[in-house]
Amino acid sequence: MRATGAVRGGVGLAAERLGHGPEVLVTTTSDHVALRTPTRPDHVSGNALHLYDPPEAIRPWLERHATTVGAVPGVTRAVVCWEVDDDLAGTEPRVAAPGDLPRDAGVDRVSVLEWRPDLPGDESGDDSGDDPDRRAVLAGLDVRDPAGLDIRSGRDEKVLAGARALYLQAGWGDDVDYWRWHTAQQLDLMVAGRCDVWVASVMGIPASRVSVMHDRAGLAIVEDVVTHPLHRGRGLASAIVVHALDHHLAARPRDRVVIRADADGAARRIYERLGFVPVATDVVVTRPTRGS
Ligand SMILES: CC(C)(COP(=O)(O)OP(=O)(O)OC[C@H]1O[C@@H](n2cnc3c(N)ncnc32)[C@H](O)[C@@H]1OP(=O)(O)O)[C@@H](O)C(=O)NCCC(=O)NCCS
Repeated sequence: MRATGAVRGGVGLAAERLGHGPEVLVTTTSDHVALRTPTRPDHVSGNALHLYDPPEAIRPWLERHATTVGAVPGVTRAVVCWEVDDDLAGTEPRVAAPGDLPRDAGVDRVSVLEWRPDLPGDESGDDSGDDPDRRAVLAGLDVRDPAGLDIRSGRDEKVLAGARALYLQAGWGDDVDYWRWHTAQQLDLMVAGRCDVWVASVMGIPASRVSVMHDRAGLAIVEDVVTHPLHRGRGLASAIVVHALDHHLAARPRDRVVIRADADGAARRIYERLGFVPVATDVVVTRPTRGS
C-alpha cells in the first residue's frame, strides 16, 4: 500500500514510507510515535501515518499502522492522518463508506498554519524566496517581552527541567516519567542540531516554553507552546514564539515554518496575530490499538 497524490498547496503532511533514516525525525506524543519524513521535494512532515490524499477506505490504513508504527512498545493508539487544503477545511472528512470508520475510532481536525507575514512591498504575502526582511518583519511585530522575562535555550538540565515542569501544566497528561522521556528525546534532537527547546523564566521560575524542530529539508515546526496558568495572558507565549522563530531564521533563513493548532483554540489566535496563516487542515483518525 503506497500513498500517492499530487502536491497541493498545503504543507504536505504525508509520508509514503516509514523508516528511521537520517532525515526521518521521530518524535513522540503521549501515546503514539510521530514520524516526520521528508519524502517530497516541497518538504514533508508526517505525524503518525500520514497519507497524501483522503483514503478510499480507512480500515486498511489503521491495520497498516498497527503493524508498523503501532508495533512500537507503548504505542496505544493507531493514528492515520491526511491533509486537506484549506479551501476544503471544515468539510466532513472524506472516508469512503461511512461504515468504514470503526466504531471505536475518533476523528479530529487540527489546523496547520504557516508563517507568512505580509512583507513590505509584497502584496501576495508570499515570502518563500530569499528574503532578508523576514527577521525585520518579526522585529517589527507588536510583541514585547514582559518585564523580567529571561528566555533561554540549551542542552543543560536546568532548561530541560523547566521545559518538563511546564509540560505538566499544559493539560496534556501528568505522567512525569513520560515527560522525562519526551524531553530526553528532544535532547537527542538538540545534540543532532535539529531542535531548540526554549524556556522563558520570570524571576528565575520557568513560566513558558516552546520547541522548534526542523528536518534539514527546509521545514521547521514550532511545537508544544505552553505557559504556566499563573502567567497566561501576559504575552509570554507570543514573546517566546517570536524569540524562537527569530533564532531559527537567523540560522535557517529560508525555512518554511509551520505550527499546528486546534482549529478553534485560543492558541490559534495568537499565532495568526504573529503572521501565521492557515494553509491546511489535518484530519486525524485515531483508534486504540489491540494492546491498549
Ligand atoms: C495557549 C497558551 C500557550 C497561551 O499562552 P499565553 O502566554 O497566555 O499567551 P499570550 O499571553 O501571548 O496571549 C494570550 C492572550 O493574552 C493577550 N495578551 C498578550 N499580551 C498581553 C499583556 N501584556 N497583557 C494582557 N494580555 C495580553 C493576548 O492578546 C492573547 O489574547 P487572546 O486570548 O484574545 O488571543 C496557554 O494558554 C497554554 O499554555 N495553554 C495550554 C497548552 C496549549 O494549548 N498550547 C497550545 C498548543 S498549540
